Amino acid sequence: MADFRKIECPVCSDTGWVRVETDKGFVARRCACVLAKRDAAVLDRTRIPARYRDCTLDNFAPKNDSLKDALKISKKFIAKFPEADVGLLFIGPCGVGKTHLASAILSEIVRTKGSSGLFYDFRDLIRDIQNTFSPDSDLSESDILTPVFECGLLALDELGAKRSSTWVEETIFYIINRRYNERKLTIFTSNYPDTSDDEDDRVPMFKKSAAFGGPKKTDETLVDRIGIRLRSRIYEMCKVVDITGEDFRKTIKQASYRF
Ligand SMILES: Nc1ncnc2c1ncn2[C@@H]1O[C@H](COP(=O)(O)OP(=O)(O)OP(=O)(O)O)[C@@H](O)[C@H]1O
Ligand SMILES: [Mg+2]
Ligand SMILES: [Zn+2]
Repeated sequence: MADFRKIECPVCSDTGWVRVETDKGFVARRCACVLAKRDAAVLDRTRIPARYRDCTLDNFAPKNDSLKDALKISKKFIAKFPEADVGLLFIGPCGVGKTHLASAILSEIVRTKGSSGLFYDFRDLIRDIQNTFSPDSDLSESDILTPVFECGLLALDELGAKRSSTWVEETIFYIINRRYNERKLTIFTSNYPDTSDDEDDRVPMFKKSAAFGGPKKTDETLVDRIGIRLRSRIYEMCKVVDITGEDFRKTIKQASYRF
């Protein structure tokens, strides 16, 4: 009986192979569709949210010097990986592209360096761990933590987005410390400004910056949110990349929506 399945790849008719002429005659090569599927499967495992799946460094438009620097540092990080000494901490106000950059780095590294990678929103990680404590949970704490400990590159988004408790601080410290001891690299993003040592400890840097778009309506700093011990460890294991600028969602995306 005829097979009416729809052929997905007209190049290889879904065989996965194409005949390529070389100077030694015809050879069989993997079709690009196989590589694309492999990339998609690899990206699925990273858990990068759908909205950020297509984020790359090539489609990141650096509109000011801090964004240019952030882009340059991101490229260097990828080039050096896995030999980079430290991870990255992107700090800046809403919509400046922190999650875009973290996702783009993670996705390029898993696709081109053969490393495993995992994206986690800080709040989701805490919630997923807490959910395992429920008697009807099918997952154990180590089901959640093992990939977080073991992946080659972890992107932990929105650090400090959930108010700390001693348990949260201890748990995140444990995760981060273990990755640090194993020389595994981590990228963090945070909305919460750092404080500089030589200035008033409580004044957020964003507020001092003329380029700050200003959407963060709190004076809380990263250390207020995650505690001094965790912040100190993160500073030891990451290069801080301060980003300033306008909210891309508001200035560029809104302007492009047509109805
Ligand atoms: N420089 C840029 N070039 C291209 N797209 C950008 C740029 N900056 C941001 N975007 C896009 O704008 C949206 C918001 O960026 P993103 O989510 O990375 O911001 P964020 O700094 O993580 O914000 P938040 O603090 O609210 O999490 C995303 O869709 C992202 O792809
Ligand atoms: Mg973000
Ligand atoms: Zn094909």
